[in-house]
Amino acid sequence: MSFPSNLLSRTIASPRATRFFFDRVVPLYRWLTNNPMWLGSLQEMSRHFPPSTSQLRLLDVGCGHGNSTRQFLELRSDVEAFGIDFSAGMLTTAKRMTEGSPQDRVHWLQGDITRLPMPDNSIDAITGHSVYYMLADQAGFLGECLRVLRPGGRLILLDPAQRNFPLDVLRTQHAIRVKLAVLSWHTVSLMHQRFTLEEMARRLEAAGFARVLSENAVEGYGVLSRGEKPYAEDQSTIERVQQIANTEATTSDLTSIPAINVPEITRGRNLFLLVKQTPNKPAWALKPDESIRWDAATMRSSSGVRCLLAFTSLPKAVEFMQSAVLANHLAGINKVAKFEKSVAPSWVIDMLLNPTLAALNAAGWQDQQEMFTVDPAAAVTGDE
Ligand SMILES: C[S@@+](CC[C@H](N)C(=O)[O-])C[C@H]1O[C@@H](n2cnc3c(N)ncnc32)[C@H](O)[C@@H]1O
Repeated sequence: MSFPSNLLSRTIASPRATRFFFDRVVPLYRWLTNNPMWLGSLQEMSRHFPPSTSQLRLLDVGCGHGNSTRQFLELRSDVEAFGIDFSAGMLTTAKRMTEGSPQDRVHWLQGDITRLPMPDNSIDAITGHSVYYMLADQAGFLGECLRVLRPGGRLILLDPAQRNFPLDVLRTQHAIRVKLAVLSWHTVSLMHQRFTLEEMARRLEAAGFARVLSENAVEGYGVLSRGEKPYAEDQSTIERVQQIANTEATTSDLTSIPAINVPEITRGRNLFLLVKQTPNKPAWALKPDESIRWDAATMRSSSGVRCLLAFTSLPKAVEFMQSAVLANHLAGINKVAKFEKSVAPSWVIDMLLNPTLAALNAAGWQDQQEMFTVDPAAAVTGDE
């Protein structure tokens, strides 16, 4: 490339020019991206979120006017989102469009995403739709993502694919808005960068991400790439589960809660119970006259009230089960069962949420083998 065009492309790609541009195109950008293809690509990205604790702390980098952030909030009720962008114009619109929505689920931050204003190991997932490709300091950005993600946390990016003029999208039945969005993406990426699947995977691996994959998105116009922050090599599986579980509060005063109140007072979508399944075999191995029965672990509080042991995340439940089994409690429990928390009011029983084994032992917990029968048909079948 000759010197002038090099200088031109560096000027166009500079953070100042990018911010200047996005400050001025908000209404047009908003109109263009409010189309089914764009929204579908955000759904694709959300498939790569990591298995969450009760709340998934999501950082949407280059959030623009918040279209991407709002979609992620809609797609997952367990998301607490931070949207960050350096364009004041974009953020003003983002804030306006979320006025009146629950305050604790979305936070807007103005800043440069190559210097993230977040503590180390504090975020479960980072999403960047159409932003990595325009960054002047891409290596700095990837390094920052590794710093703020917790081990096991994921970076999920969507960028323009290396390909020819999108003639086919002009010929297809897509709405005019889709055609214009793809054309604009193609034109803007001419001034920045486009990637092959291999290139994006190589970049994430070189930066230090693990379990990297890249796949076609946006009907071949985009590359969706994903990487995971590795765990420390000497950590056992039990230590990893504990590390994730420790990000959520436990209950040490063992206050019981009526199941009917649980959906209101807990965050996240799900509840996890410790269950004894009989017969202990997979559904396909059942004989015609057999059916599965689930009995969930309970304990009696000091005032004699029987309580179901319930956990707001899979890591919390697994951590409790591991320590209980090692201490010879919970004989017969062979499963962690997952339910939508909206099912809880149908269980007429009090609950202990996220208890620790130490707290139960201190309260004089014995294995009373009293169980509470729950309906397996009401459970969520596993995605984690
Ligand atoms: C193409 S828009 C994507 C917006 C949004 N993710 C979406 O899907 O609609 C790119 C955004 O990245 C922001 N951006 C680019 N470089 C940035 C940087 N270094 N720091 C913060 N924001 C940046 C721009 O201001 C712009 O709003």
